[in-house]
Amino acid sequence: MKQKLVQTAMAMRNHAHAPYSNYRVGAAVETESGEIIGGCNVESSSYGLTCCAERIALFRAIAEGHTSFNALAVATENGGSPCGACRQVIWDLCKEILVHICDKNGLLKTLSSSELLPDAFDDSHLK
Ligand code: THU
Repeated sequence: MKQKLVQTAMAMRNHAHAPYSNYRVGAAVETESGEIIGGCNVESSSYGLTCCAERIALFRAIAEGHTSFNALAVATENGGSPCGACRQVIWDLCKEILVHICDKNGLLKTLSSSELLPDAFDDSHLK
């Protein structure tokens, strides 16, 4: 399953809409039921409206009715890891999962979401 997740994230780079940065990012999330849902970065001419691949994959999965996730993979040319905003969204929607970080050749390293975002703010603080 890890291999399919990584392969999907790498393949999703081909769908990236990144005419401004030319930095193509693919992501894929594995749902609790084992479904794999991909995303890619989508950039805007108003740069701040750009959405990262990780959030597109997760928002797609949520929109399709999934609520629980096992793992996520992100793929870039050079092994970039999720940005701060995506780390927060990964924690909010997935809590503790494994995040596989890949470059153009394949899996580089695996971290947990709490390693990516230690001491996170989340829903537990709002109750
Ligand atoms: N990007 C992602 O898709 N995910 C990240 O975690 C880091 C950055 C995208 C946003 C933008 O389209 C491009 O990479 C350069 O920042």
